[in-house]
Amino acid sequence: MVLTPKLYDYYRSVCGQESQPLKKVREETKRLSSSQMLSLPEVTHFLQFLIQVTGSKKILEIGTFTGYTTLALAAVLPNQGHIITCEKDSRVLEMAKRFWEESGYDKRITARQGPALETLEELLKTEGSVFDFIFMDADKRNYPAYYELSLKLLRPGGLLAIDNVLGYSGVYVAEVQNPLTAALHALNLHIAQDERVHFSVLPIGDGVTLVHKK
Ligand SMILES: C[S@@+](CC[C@H](N)C(=O)[O-])C[C@H]1O[C@@H](n2cnc3c(N)ncnc32)[C@H](O)[C@@H]1O
Repeated sequence: MVLTPKLYDYYRSVCGQESQPLKKVREETKRLSSSQMLSLPEVTHFLQFLIQVTGSKKILEIGTFTGYTTLALAAVLPNQGHIITCEKDSRVLEMAKRFWEESGYDKRITARQGPALETLEELLKTEGSVFDFIFMDADKRNYPAYYELSLKLLRPGGLLAIDNVLGYSGVYVAEVQNPLTAALHALNLHIAQDERVHFSVLPIGDGVTLVHKK
């Protein structure tokens, strides 16, 4: 099926409303030159749905940016639910913290500032394989390393969602081969033959792969 602009508009109109706090994050983030990093509402709504149907309580996010998806996921967590989110950039993290405080969901969120690889290694030592759900949405070149660490950090039966697997809308085709799309392509091939997981690649947003740890 080809998603024409008209059909896409219709799809967005029926796939879940964005809450006021999330609208505010989106509006204010638009002022940043890097605003294209924000997740799309339909992808975010889908992630919320996954948290709700799986009853996930312990969430890990790799790549916070201005805290849009963090806030969206925190808002649908059950009681005692908590999300740890990793971000290296203190500037965007300050913005994110302000949005979280204003929304009242800040107590459900712990931000870990620094290179995500280091944070994940630390979490593996301090927490172990405890996460119900992980959302991977940081620097694509580290995706293969994040994938391996995420599989360790997930509990058996846990779910990993990986964003941008189609390479910023430039599917791995000849014209757009570069180190970033090459890393994504290598990971896509790796997951497809990884016997430790079940997986599904969904063409929503810029492509989301769902990985279920056996
Ligand atoms: C695509 S954005 C995350 C978007 C966010 N999930 C959302 O939709 O609101 C990716 C973020 O990862 C951060 N990042 C990139 N490399 C990183 C690294 N090595 N460690 C931690 N954060 C990193 C970037 O600074 C950026 O804020």
